[in-house]
Amino acid sequence: MLLRILGTAAGGGLPQWNCACPGGAGARRHPTRRRLHDGLAVHGADPGAWFLANATPDVAEQLEDHSALRPGAGQERTPVVPVVLTDAELDHTLGLLRLREAARIDVWCTEPVHKALTTRLPLPDILAPYTELTWHELPLTDAGQPARIAGLEVSALPLSDKRPRYAADEPAHPAWSAALEVRDPGTGASALYAPAVASWSDLLDHEIASADCVLLDGTFLHEDEPRRTGVSRRTASEMGHMPIEGRNGTAERLRRIGARVHYTHLNNTNPLVDPDAPQHERLAGLGLRVAEERMVVSL
Ligand code: MLT
Ligand code: MN
Repeated sequence: MLLRILGTAAGGGLPQWNCACPGGAGARRHPTRRRLHDGLAVHGADPGAWFLANATPDVAEQLEDHSALRPGAGQERTPVVPVVLTDAELDHTLGLLRLREAARIDVWCTEPVHKALTTRLPLPDILAPYTELTWHELPLTDAGQPARIAGLEVSALPLSDKRPRYAADEPAHPAWSAALEVRDPGTGASALYAPAVASWSDLLDHEIASADCVLLDGTFLHEDEPRRTGVSRRTASEMGHMPIEGRNGTAERLRRIGARVHYTHLNNTNPLVDPDAPQHERLAGLGLRVAEERMVVSL
């Protein structure tokens, strides 16, 4: 199994068009610091078989950027695009509109996400004149057989009832936001991708400890970061993203289980978007680092 990191930024990207915060200004000065919206391409044993984990507003550029994902080698077009969603957030789903040139888009997601994307953001109505949108239910971890996608076993580990703001009044459900668990049945290798961790559970703890590769929510470094930077009146946790640092931060949780992870979904307020920031050093000592754009992980 191969994971291609297509992007590592939270909603808005880095730099965000309307923001002159230090992280964004740094990315404008140093283009290598730019980050696209977080998402992955995952390949199974057959290199031609792949799926997207989330479809971001940058998806067309992200596909174009990786030669293995471009059409060619005997096929003039990419006819079917398989997409697996962690949630219904706009930064993870607007790319479905950009994929409309495909003959068919196959989407796997949990039940509340399907409801949001068919009723509150009526993608079937909008996309019907362009492409064939086919929905598949993404099985929950520990609740039956995982889905088989690109030769890999894929399931959703429910993380929280964090709803997108456009569907904030929908009823609570534990699988509004999920981690994707991907397992290669041929090798037994496994990966976990969780870009929005609102709270920690024993099951998440266990699954992180047993995965070979973990890509985890690194939106905010500190709990008060959104307030302090004027992004929101809410704290990081209230926005559905546990901070990295602090007594209840993810770094402390990961230290306890000795897990090594890559942080993704970084917000432009996060000091870690500056590769020279001193805060990297303590985290590196714990085996925790920030995922790089275009990183490829072979498992
Ligand atoms: C989130 O991760 O909390 C959302 O994507 C925020 C947003 O883009 O509005
Ligand atoms: Mn997001």
